[in-house]
Amino acid sequence: MDNRVIIGGQWGDEGKGKVVDALSEGVDWVIRYQGGANAGHTIFIGEQKHVLHLVPSGILRPGVKCLLGGGMVIDPWSLRDEILALEQRGVEVRGHLQISASAHMLMPYHQRLDELREGRLKRQSIGTTGKGIGPAYLDKVQRTGMRMGDLRLPPEHIERKGIEKILSANELLSEFYQADPLPSRVLAEELVVLAKFLAPLIVDPHQVLRPVREGRETALFEGAQGTLLDIDHGTYPFVTSSNCTIGGVLTGTGLPPKVLGEIDGIFKAYLTRVGNGPFPTELLGEEGETLREAGGEYGATTGRARRCGWFDLPAARYAVDVNGITGVIITKLDVLDIMPTVKVATGYELDDEVLDYFPVGSGALSRCRPVYREFPGWDRPSAPCRALADLPSAARKYLEFLEEQLGALIIGVSVGREREQMIWTPTGVTT
Ligand code: GDP
Ligand code: IMO
Ligand code: MG
Repeated sequence: MDNRVIIGGQWGDEGKGKVVDALSEGVDWVIRYQGGANAGHTIFIGEQKHVLHLVPSGILRPGVKCLLGGGMVIDPWSLRDEILALEQRGVEVRGHLQISASAHMLMPYHQRLDELREGRLKRQSIGTTGKGIGPAYLDKVQRTGMRMGDLRLPPEHIERKGIEKILSANELLSEFYQADPLPSRVLAEELVVLAKFLAPLIVDPHQVLRPVREGRETALFEGAQGTLLDIDHGTYPFVTSSNCTIGGVLTGTGLPPKVLGEIDGIFKAYLTRVGNGPFPTELLGEEGETLREAGGEYGATTGRARRCGWFDLPAARYAVDVNGITGVIITKLDVLDIMPTVKVATGYELDDEVLDYFPVGSGALSRCRPVYREFPGWDRPSAPCRALADLPSAARKYLEFLEEQLGALIIGVSVGREREQMIWTPTGVTT
């Protein structure tokens, strides 16, 4: 198995967790490179459901080493709770999980500031997950953040640094937002306790990744969110605060480009979005509701109903281009089993023009009206299929069209939430 990057090709929730779990057998490392507990990756192993927010999806494969990369923002309280919850379910975490010392620490005031900022924006709010992601990355770029490596300092230093940061955030909370200050001493003492728990897992990423850099160990790079939520390349300002695209793998791990290997883009057979912002192929009526129920489209982090719509080819081609995606994995094909017809946007109408590309930014995109191509639904379910040849011919025609239009091979098709509901098609779906 070669190194691979797993990147969300849409607005997140494409099924990255399921794909990483499926591909992680036999790899040495699974490395998360950006984001924080805004991610929700749901994985079913038999009847056992795991929802991972910070811990990489490779943790469910015994023996795989997992790293929380330097590009992440990590809430130590959430991380401790996630580790303990996994261990309670019999998953061995400590011993497999390592944390980059350069990852930033997400503190309770980041979460509070996220909520308050969203509240002030009212109708223009982004619809964040409320996990404090934007404020934590803001502290990182304005060079006022704490890093996970700080948890290796002596307890009195951690406490002093914690109090200093909380007091400074309290000024903002009370003076700008007229909100209650946070209890600095209590939280700083909690941080000292968390440091005892987490410090043994904190590592120097440059040292532990040496075997990956030198080609002696293999790695799977697990993305969170998706291309259209990328801070630079997504539908700004309705995006998250990190680089979910390919550049984030380099900055978020400190590894050079030559070790990345194949770049796989994960795309749902239709499209969803959580939170606000433009979504040209959104289905606001009954069809959208049908997709939501069939696909179980409710957020794994916030429980919010996901907005649902048809596959958007200009957006997907954009994701292929931006990331240099070489292999496409289509997930949730089975959710379309019940649809009498399936539509794909091949372009947009914008003012008097027809566009075949994805316009940058949210302004133009919000005025785009999709131009659809329609496909007949299939006559039998795809969910029981385990080989390309077993798939209903109408489903295959749909996949062949996507492959041709995307200009990248479809190397896998997921037809259910279980590990084995996966069809690998390394030479593509077009015969
Ligand atoms: P992620 O954030 O990209 O990892 O995706 P999520 O886990 O948030 O959302 C994907 C959801 O779809 C999860 O509940 C998965 O169990 C489920 N899922 C993944 N692949 C498939 C599939 O092929 N078919 C169906 N029906 N469900 C899937
Ligand atoms: P996974 O990894 C879907 C969305 C939020 C909001 C925007 C900004 O499970 O695919 P943030 O809290 O990051 O500041 O919110 O990004 N968002 C996601 N949507 N899946 C996710 O993660 C997301 N993480 C953030 O809904 O619109
Ligand atoms: Mg998710």
